[in-house]
Amino acid sequence: MSRFFVTTPIFYVNAKPHLGHAFTTILADSVSRFHALMGEETYFLTGTDEHGDKIAKASEAAGQSPKEYADQISGLFRALAPMLGAKPNQFIRTTDADHIKTVQKVLQKVYEAGDIYFGEYGGHYCFGCERFYTEKELVDGMCPDHKTKPEYISEKNYFFRMSKYQKWLIEYINEHPEFIRPARYRNEVLSLLESGALEDLCISRPKSRLTWGIELPFDPDFVCYVWFDALLNYVSALNYPRGERFKKFWPVANHIVAKDILKPHAVFWPTMLKAAGLQPYQSLNVHGYWLVRDTKMSKSIGNVVEPKRMVDTYGVSAFRYFLLREMAFGSDASFTEDALVGRLNADLANDLGNLFNRALAMTHKYFDGKVPSPDKEFQEDAELKHLGLEAMQGFQANFGEFRTSRALESLWDLVRALNKYIDQTAPWTLYKNKQTARLGTVMYVVLEHMRKVAVHLWPVMPEASEKMLAQLGMPFELEKVMLPKEPEVWGVLESGVAVAPTSNLFPRVELPEPAPAARKEPVAEATKTGASGEKAEKTTPKAAAAAAPAGPAGSVEFADFQKLDLRVGTVLSAAKHPDADKLLVVQVALGEPEPRQIVAGLADRFSPEELTGKQVVVVANLAPRKLRGLVSQGMILVAKDAEVTRLLTAAGMVDDGGKVA
Ligand code: MSP
Repeated sequence: MSRFFVTTPIFYVNAKPHLGHAFTTILADSVSRFHALMGEETYFLTGTDEHGDKIAKASEAAGQSPKEYADQISGLFRALAPMLGAKPNQFIRTTDADHIKTVQKVLQKVYEAGDIYFGEYGGHYCFGCERFYTEKELVDGMCPDHKTKPEYISEKNYFFRMSKYQKWLIEYINEHPEFIRPARYRNEVLSLLESGALEDLCISRPKSRLTWGIELPFDPDFVCYVWFDALLNYVSALNYPRGERFKKFWPVANHIVAKDILKPHAVFWPTMLKAAGLQPYQSLNVHGYWLVRDTKMSKSIGNVVEPKRMVDTYGVSAFRYFLLREMAFGSDASFTEDALVGRLNADLANDLGNLFNRALAMTHKYFDGKVPSPDKEFQEDAELKHLGLEAMQGFQANFGEFRTSRALESLWDLVRALNKYIDQTAPWTLYKNKQTARLGTVMYVVLEHMRKVAVHLWPVMPEASEKMLAQLGMPFELEKVMLPKEPEVWGVLESGVAVAPTSNLFPRVELPEPAPAARKEPVAEATKTGASGEKAEKTTPKAAAAAAPAGPAGSVEFADFQKLDLRVGTVLSAAKHPDADKLLVVQVALGEPEPRQIVAGLADRFSPEELTGKQVVVVANLAPRKLRGLVSQGMILVAKDAEVTRLLTAAGMVDDGGKVA
């Protein structure tokens, strides 16, 4: 059985988890799930990096011991993954006794092999980076990252003979194009290695200056440099050297990091491995940085994005989808809540959500909620299948190389094609014309493709994918999925299986409300159901407050209000009225045997596509009337202010026919 091992960096415990940490964790989880779906045995490792100056200083500032402080923040990182729907197999801490032992073992081994020596060194030390800089690396005498002046420190320390492996590393990178990806980072590392002599790496700190670290096994006056300690987590977690896990997973190690820690992973780590007699990792996968409105996230600017707030506001599936779709692998991406809302509405609510809502509602209407049997295949079905095959192959090829954004783009070719296929095959017309055999094929083609889409989405949105599959009557079972075969396989969905009546997994989302001062007061209004002048009377809250104590003019008794039967229903289809520009003819499922036809004055505000699949609130007991020749059996409610008109809907899924009370 082939295997896959994926890691995130182990995060420093000097600050709370933010969007950047969340993204790497989600990316690692999604590729781990993808490889599991491909039939591989996977192992996903994350954790915290707890030694060194940074942590010692932060704990001092917090008035705690380094260990107390690390315990606390490490706990926040441990809770991060489950909050993001991620399931690491292991959470390692560099303060774990086993890790400490492994680091000491490796130090001893490399020391005995002669690749660690004692020497004097003077250099520009940046406390932020916890490393020495050479004169050449400084920019105008400042640390290129922190823009602060490093301190010149001259002291005796232990050094790792990194320079000895420079030539080997250049050759190794050249011979293994997949070793560092995308290519731009590979090229960056190669040009760094080729631009001059690689220096040896200072791997100790005298205890006189820092005690919060792993003691060198061969000199108790020194602790280990935090990077030499931290990088070894990737093998100590696997119980190097003798652990079964190490044997199984080290040959298939795939690291994920952002570009900020490229050099330690692409230069220090492979040379350390070489010196310790271990084979290099399989690949280093480098993603870009999340910026916030094109600015670096920073506590001092106050623009740090908290993953928990995003998950609480938009849901874990939607948040994961946005991050994996928005960031092109290797490039920076900009996070804004408007972009997030825009993408969720376009890709999830409109494309994917609509597809599920309409298809499930139609299966209920036309086939009693059961997957129909397909009849013979038409040209348009074969064309869709071919497009689907390419979309799924594109998804798989890209996901396998961490290009989640391109993978999703490819899958959405299929999602959009399915919506188009429904519009073109017009199942409602087939139904009206009693072409049941063709209708059965069309619905089967749609439902089977929806199953394929849902399975492919499991790495990205595990929670939503499992719900989608349950709605299709096919509960998710990892062992039964054979993703490599999915693009070609056909007919997995069994005819006769019951599907859910509606989906509603991806309701449209709005940006959180602006501050009250800027908010406009919305006015509830019934849409026109007839010719002009038939608009329902409006009452604004302000007008109500100004009226006499008896109540505003035209106020109704509670008993009268109770006469209204307001219900939630799903729009099955909508079309322009053949004889009136402002009217739409809408078919709404209200949990009754037949859908309701409602003629609504919404054509200037909504396109038929925008309405289809949405849940709406309907006045269900309005006396039927004819509008421009077509019978209208109710009224769809909207809320509007001076600028926008929005459909009135429930905040979450409600069964069709659910009462508004
Ligand atoms: N402790 C080291 C890593 C040691 S690994 C052996 C470290 N920790 S960190 O807490 O600073 O985490 C850096 C990592 O967090 C990045 O490489 C990336 O995975 C993630 N991110 C932090 N901020 C980020 C962004 N703004 N954007 C994207 N990811 C970033 O470095």
